[in-house]
Amino acid sequence: MIPVFKPHIGSETIKAATDALDMGWLGMGSLVKEFEESIASYLELEAPRQAVAVNTCTSALHLALLLAEVGPGDEVITPALNNIGDFQAIGMCGARPVFADIREDDLGLDPVRVEEMIGPKVKAIIALHYTGIPCHIREIREIARCRGIRLIEDAAHATGTRVFGRPIGAEGDLACFSFDAIKTLTCIDGGLVVTARPEEAARLYPLRLLGMTQPNERLYANSRAYQFDVCGQGFRYHLANLHAAIGLSQLKALPTFIANRRSYCALYRSMLDDVPGIRTPSSDFADASMFVFVIRVLNGRRSELATHLRSRGIDTGIHWVPGNRHQWLRDARGVDKLPVTDRVGDEILTLPLWSFMTPSIIAEVASAIREFFGKASTLARPAVLKGQALLEAIKVSGVAPYRIPISGFRGVGLRVVSMGDPLPGDVKSLTEWRNRNVTSFLSEFVATEERTRNWLTQSVARDPSRILFMIEEEGKDPLGYVGLAFIDWALASGEADSVVRGRDGQPGIMAAAMRTLLEWGRQELGLSKYGVRVLSDNPANQFYVKFGFKENRRDGLRRDESPGFVLWRGVPHGAANDGRWLIHYELIA
Ligand SMILES: Cc1ncc(COP(=O)(O)O)c(C=O)c1O
Repeated sequence: MIPVFKPHIGSETIKAATDALDMGWLGMGSLVKEFEESIASYLELEAPRQAVAVNTCTSALHLALLLAEVGPGDEVITPALNNIGDFQAIGMCGARPVFADIREDDLGLDPVRVEEMIGPKVKAIIALHYTGIPCHIREIREIARCRGIRLIEDAAHATGTRVFGRPIGAEGDLACFSFDAIKTLTCIDGGLVVTARPEEAARLYPLRLLGMTQPNERLYANSRAYQFDVCGQGFRYHLANLHAAIGLSQLKALPTFIANRRSYCALYRSMLDDVPGIRTPSSDFADASMFVFVIRVLNGRRSELATHLRSRGIDTGIHWVPGNRHQWLRDARGVDKLPVTDRVGDEILTLPLWSFMTPSIIAEVASAIREFFGKASTLARPAVLKGQALLEAIKVSGVAPYRIPISGFRGVGLRVVSMGDPLPGDVKSLTEWRNRNVTSFLSEFVATEERTRNWLTQSVARDPSRILFMIEEEGKDPLGYVGLAFIDWALASGEADSVVRGRDGQPGIMAAAMRTLLEWGRQELGLSKYGVRVLSDNPANQFYVKFGFKENRRDGLRRDESPGFVLWRGVPHGAANDGRWLIHYELIA
């Protein structure tokens, strides 16, 4: 059975957990501090904004509601299409949920409906970023600000989702995250509150630890004070070192998890968009960290489709039965004003999604759905599927020397040295090569293994589809390298990059390597469109123009330096840097 979820527990996570078990301090301690600092940095939190870790997102929501001074008799606006944890957290404060309807597009709170539901007892709003796609948060933030109501963003699904260029949590009032067993980043169980107010972080420390006035520095040093006071009601909500260790190891891989899930969602959409009986999410997933992929099954056929998929060995889920259908909340305020929730609640169906799927699994699910609706199978897109399977095979077989011959240059070919992660053994040889060829590139740096690894992991592996090829002549020093990046299977497009000529390159070798690469992408991966980005003063501009690349945009420039490499980042509509631009080219293959 193809499951709906499959957590990724790789060898690094297992090692991190074993090391934490060996450490001898399993509970709240130094690794919790490290996790809080790392996730704060990942979420780009700027002082005084702080991240406080807890044991679940339900606890995070409970504490956030207490910070918002929600108490008995108060009301909290929430979508009914939300997790039970949210309703229970509201109930734990003695308050009642009030339901506001959702929008058709992102299935998040509709700001207009939120405004309508605000009454004298409403103390807070919980806005959910459903499935990882951001809701209309700017408008909701504005409503909360104008009405003087606290806003809690439920980012349980959305660790890493960006809104207007900033991660969720980096802006706004309060945000809560979940790291439970099936989330994109798992601590097995874990949660986080982000608050913009330092005095609230100070209140959260005793709140998560039974109200005790234990000095944080002492806890974070794997120690306990035995003389302490209890300053008020508190809860046993702290995170433990073991869980933090797991979270820390997962955080390192999170960009890969997110990028993979995003490409799987795009692939699902491209394979399902023309099926008349369903609706796929309206997002392009560009800035979304996707937790689940939810389609809408029209015309009352959801359970029939779920049964069909089950018969084909594919499991599905429902996220969720809306809260207004539960006995406990049937009489909540707002239940009679939920036309969108009521309809969508009958339509949503969650398809399998996890961090390391294969395109063939997605094709299998999509084909079974297409079959149900009498549409031709997606497997009718052989070029792209073949390409995906090929890359998957190269990735799985690791160092297997996949070589593409370069015609016109006997014995010379392209060999894959990195796909997302560097392949074993290649950091050393790549470093040595970079040093031998230092006169012809990167003269600003001496390449060390650490710097090469930094470059590969921070730059190359940021895009898991990026492939780096050495241009090699058997038995000789490599002649240079070329790369292919940002492969978008839905658009059948990719980007040429990392073109570097070595000291010994024979005339014409780089052009031949590029021609081979573009042709290979077209033939073997089914790509039909290429992009490339070049600094305006780089001689490579002429190189690409010769291949038929056409300029289609110019961005301003920002220089970001990391140990071992420089990243020039394009700033759309930005200014030139010293008269230099980032030029975008496109080639229809
Ligand atoms: C939207 C949402 N909020 C809150 C929670 C509760 O999170 P936890 O399981 O960490 O308590 C979940 C869990 O799935 C969720 O999906």
